[in-house]
Amino acid sequence: MGRVRWSSRLIFIFAAVGSAVGLGNVWRFPYLAGKYGGGAFLIPYVVMLVLMGIPLLMMEFAIGQRMQLGASGSFGKIKHMLSSIGFGAVLCGFVVVSYYAVVMAWSLLYFKFSFNLAWGDQTAKFFTEDVIRLSSSPFESGVIVSSILVALIIVWFLIYFSIWKGIKSVSKVVTLTMPLPIILLVVLVARVVTLPGADDGIAYYLKPNWAAILDPEVWSAAMSQIFFTLSLAFGVMIAYASYQHEESDIAKNAVVISVVNSCISIVAGFAVFATLGYMSVQQNIPVHTLAASGPKLAFIVFPQALSLIPGAPVFAALFFLMLITLGIDSAFSLVEAVTTVVSDKYTHLRREDVSLYVCVFGFLSGVVFTTTAGLYYLDIVDHFITSYGLVFVGLLEVIAVGWIYGAEKLRKYINDVSEIRIGVWWSYLIKYIIPTLLIFLLATSLYSDLKTPYEDYPRSVILVMGWGVLLMVALISYAMAHFSKPKKR
Ligand code: PHE
Repeated sequence: MGRVRWSSRLIFIFAAVGSAVGLGNVWRFPYLAGKYGGGAFLIPYVVMLVLMGIPLLMMEFAIGQRMQLGASGSFGKIKHMLSSIGFGAVLCGFVVVSYYAVVMAWSLLYFKFSFNLAWGDQTAKFFTEDVIRLSSSPFESGVIVSSILVALIIVWFLIYFSIWKGIKSVSKVVTLTMPLPIILLVVLVARVVTLPGADDGIAYYLKPNWAAILDPEVWSAAMSQIFFTLSLAFGVMIAYASYQHEESDIAKNAVVISVVNSCISIVAGFAVFATLGYMSVQQNIPVHTLAASGPKLAFIVFPQALSLIPGAPVFAALFFLMLITLGIDSAFSLVEAVTTVVSDKYTHLRREDVSLYVCVFGFLSGVVFTTTAGLYYLDIVDHFITSYGLVFVGLLEVIAVGWIYGAEKLRKYINDVSEIRIGVWWSYLIKYIIPTLLIFLLATSLYSDLKTPYEDYPRSVILVMGWGVLLMVALISYAMAHFSKPKKR
């Protein structure tokens, strides 16, 4: 039986954009831009997009499409032990989806709260005390918060039904989950940019601070954002590309997908900062003290800001619906990366069953984040997986392709199938520049984490939840490759 295929080129692009565009575009990019130089942040961001993001996306597409297998199978075809890179990628992705789904569960609860603005005017207290019931330290985590658990079950049902038949279901679901959040974003932007004070917020977002581009920290931030936002090194893009025909275009698809993704990030910045500007005028608080990222932005600052807008419940509901629909296709892409690897290996298993096992397992792994110390764990695991796991996998990927498979060989394949031809610069990037950049990124993160523990969490918790999780991912990936038999050719 042949491999399943995307129903069309457009649907493949929809799915890849759906994966790329996620919470990172809304709650990470705008914050980084505001913090690291405003408009000037676009320089490191675009440079990294061109030097690293687009070439890596082309590489992942090319590997998946050439080998016609998910991440571990693809690298395993180069050399058996290299399949551990693929296992590492999807395991990192699996960890990410286990908490990404929890964030979606919070969003689902907030969608419900929107209708009567249940958070009142003490949004910080509401989020930490009433919704997630945050304990006073990461050591106290005895209790599961039942409302989050229920929401999490619903989220996993949504994920499961989006992918239960693999690419066949994904092809249908993305026709809704890719465009819908973008439409909602446009509606929100159109509403908030006309509010009084919006222009102050936007000025804060875009005003360039040129000195920032001399700061290496800004470059590291741009680099890790590019990695996360393009869903690189989680085996997602490799899996998605493996369902393309071998002669499908690569270079142009990668450019289109990256550009669309970045444009959406920039537009999301307008939504975020226009809203913050409005809130700053209404409440007489400077914009820079309101700027926040992650859960704080989505569940504390935004609910408060949205409450001030005329017709608040409607816009609040739209905002959380946007988060849910933004998140879902990123979440199921991560699951799909795992199911692809499993189904490639165990070809006798039914797709529906593999999807079910992965979802149940993903749900169970996420339960720890629904406890009262869940937010602490989520924060630590997220930091370690995205600053080390992912970057390390990326580094191994470029070494495997650049030095073992042969960058030139892959470039030739890309050029054979693509409309745009890529020059020899691409091979230089893959072999020399990108590995150097990634080593720099790893070194800077390591330096700052060893200097002071991340966010001042107790060292023991960092050791278990941060380094421990990474070590486990590494050991399992190595063992899976070591104990599995090489495929006969
Ligand atoms: N790209 C997504 C975002 O920006 C996150 C993601 C990473 C999704 C990796 C899938 C795989 O939110």
